[in-house]
Amino acid sequence: MKRVAVFASGSGSNFESIVQASKNDESYEVVLLFSDQPNAYALKRAETLGVEAESFSLKDYPDKLAYEADVLALLIRKRIDFIVLAGYMRLIGSTLLNHYSGQIVNIHPSLLPQFPGLNAIGQALEAGVTETGVTIHFVDEGMDTGPIIRQEKVWIEKDDTQETLQRKIQQVEHRLYPETLQQLLRKDEVIV
Ligand code: GAR
Repeated sequence: MKRVAVFASGSGSNFESIVQASKNDESYEVVLLFSDQPNAYALKRAETLGVEAESFSLKDYPDKLAYEADVLALLIRKRIDFIVLAGYMRLIGSTLLNHYSGQIVNIHPSLLPQFPGLNAIGQALEAGVTETGVTIHFVDEGMDTGPIIRQEKVWIEKDDTQETLQRKIQQVEHRLYPETLQQLLRKDEVIV
């Protein structure tokens, strides 16, 4: 069984769905929730779910290199095999990318390469498109750029707002992310 660390900066609803799904599955176990935000709601969810949690603040370090060195030491100590970014709003640097090459995935609320970066849902509404969606991809040094593993469309209705569209997208995310992780980690191979 793969030992997974989930990285989250915010609410952690994807983290929760990933943990819940792992209870009925032999492919992975979430052994750590890591956050770069000491007040992230994801940390509270971890406590409720009985998952060990750690939070390091970048401002306590001289630079990102020193920060990632500490994160890597933590992951090695916890014998983490695979990293799942779930609303982690920070670029992964070379220290983690080199050590976990091909073993880091991310979820993004758009059909990449459309609408990368912050507020992808707002970007889609602003652009006036009729469909957007969810992308799960391997992480590289770019922002939301690595090889795509899975995508699913979500239609945008005329009366959709940021809140309604976010709800529709998150419904898809909460099903698609655990499902994709189960397939990826069970077979330990790419499932494009
Ligand atoms: C998710 O919708 C995820 O796709 C998005 O942040 C949200 C986190 O929600 N990620 C990005 O925008 C990454 N560029 P959650 O904290 O409730 O799981």
